[in-house]
Amino acid sequence: MEYNPGDGMSFRRKTQALPEFARREAYQIKIKGTRTSIKANSAEGRFRAEQTLKKMALLGEKPERCTIFDYPRYAHRGLMIDESRSFKGKEFIKKQIDAMALLGLNTLHLHLTDAAGWRIEIKSHPELTQKAAWRIGRTYAEWEKNGYPFTTVDDPKAYGGYYTREDLIEIVQYAKQRFINVIPEIEMPGHSMEVNRTYPELACLDSTGHRRNWAWDLCPGNEGVFKLLEDVLTEVMDIFPGKYIHIGGDEAVMKDWPVCVNCRKRMQEEGFTDVRQLQGYLVRRMTSFLHDRGRTAIGWDEILETGIPDDAVVQSWRGSTGGKKASAAGHKVIMSPNTHCYFDYYQDLIRKEPLATGELTSLHWVYTYDPGDDPNVLGLQANLWCEKVPTPEHAEYMLYPRLFAIAEIGWSPSGQRDADEFRARAEALLKVFRALGYNGFDMETESDFAKAGLRRTQQGEIIYPLF
Ligand code: ACM
Ligand code: ZN
Repeated sequence: MEYNPGDGMSFRRKTQALPEFARREAYQIKIKGTRTSIKANSAEGRFRAEQTLKKMALLGEKPERCTIFDYPRYAHRGLMIDESRSFKGKEFIKKQIDAMALLGLNTLHLHLTDAAGWRIEIKSHPELTQKAAWRIGRTYAEWEKNGYPFTTVDDPKAYGGYYTREDLIEIVQYAKQRFINVIPEIEMPGHSMEVNRTYPELACLDSTGHRRNWAWDLCPGNEGVFKLLEDVLTEVMDIFPGKYIHIGGDEAVMKDWPVCVNCRKRMQEEGFTDVRQLQGYLVRRMTSFLHDRGRTAIGWDEILETGIPDDAVVQSWRGSTGGKKASAAGHKVIMSPNTHCYFDYYQDLIRKEPLATGELTSLHWVYTYDPGDDPNVLGLQANLWCEKVPTPEHAEYMLYPRLFAIAEIGWSPSGQRDADEFRARAEALLKVFRALGYNGFDMETESDFAKAGLRRTQQGEIIYPLF
């Protein structure tokens, strides 16, 4: 945020040369005594200004006289929440949308399907939620230990749930009122064990010709799979009016494809020599399906490796490499590198934190991230995977205050960012969040190591697990 009292240039002139998204979201607030005025180029800009005023009021900031002029650095400022591994539900999501609005974030990505649960009602295929939205195992770890059992809602041991179509329409509307776009993700072809469990007849065949109904990947050789995916995406497009639909594409293991008769037939017909081309085939078909209906597909960075249409957006997660390669190939890119934007990772030393994942990703460390000035980079996003995040309270613990850093990176050029000043503001804002009923990480007990944004020794060795 930029405080620049007294410069004489009009708001219109100040925003004239900005990229379209920044001009639309730019705002100016002038406070003189009891008078507050807002200038904006759109209702969205006005909303951003109102949220800034709300945040200032919550923080108890009452300047006598000031001018605030601000606009975002990136068009995409997002948060992904994994609803498959632990289902947190509508009220939780609406509460996080409120937080996102206050922080000036504008994109909520919902990871709605994965091996651990299908969380979106599909009217044409009710079996998906009847058979794969409920499991035995309150946490992902318990479910894993139990041997991945699914069950039905009437089972007293059932854990899970799903969003009805009406729930999702309500979420989309709630977000829209706060100028937040919701991007649904339907995983394919990997992370799809729940689909194979629901429809064993669609799964790959093993070498003896039997169905592999515990398979991880969908069968790209089976036309029934494409019919299912098209039916699902048709309903998804009906619920989610935004331009982008996320089709996953990450971590297909492709173990069953070389032996499956249907996959081999597809390879022969298409002249493929490598099973990886089957992933490209499926992703391209679904990307085109969306494109023909006026939508744009987003996929995790693996989709780049097997050929994608020009308009597909690549989401970099295995570090920043995929994003850089995708941009060089002319694709638009969302940066959510696991090096900085994975909020399922530890935010402090292992010995004082609940079980988490990955390398130490402290508030300071997140704040040092810079997605750069490449015009193909749409922006950045935090991803909260929930295998080890079983409850809404735990999810908030992982999100705040680190999401404050993502928001600030999304608005402010790196040259204008100051880590010490940010820390003081984050502390104050975290108190506000607590007062509003959000859980959060305890900044007061943060180790000096995490505070300093350290992660490795000078020799490059990862040292955090030794503490
Ligand atoms: C991912 O973390 N598998 C996208
Ligand atoms: Zn197959």
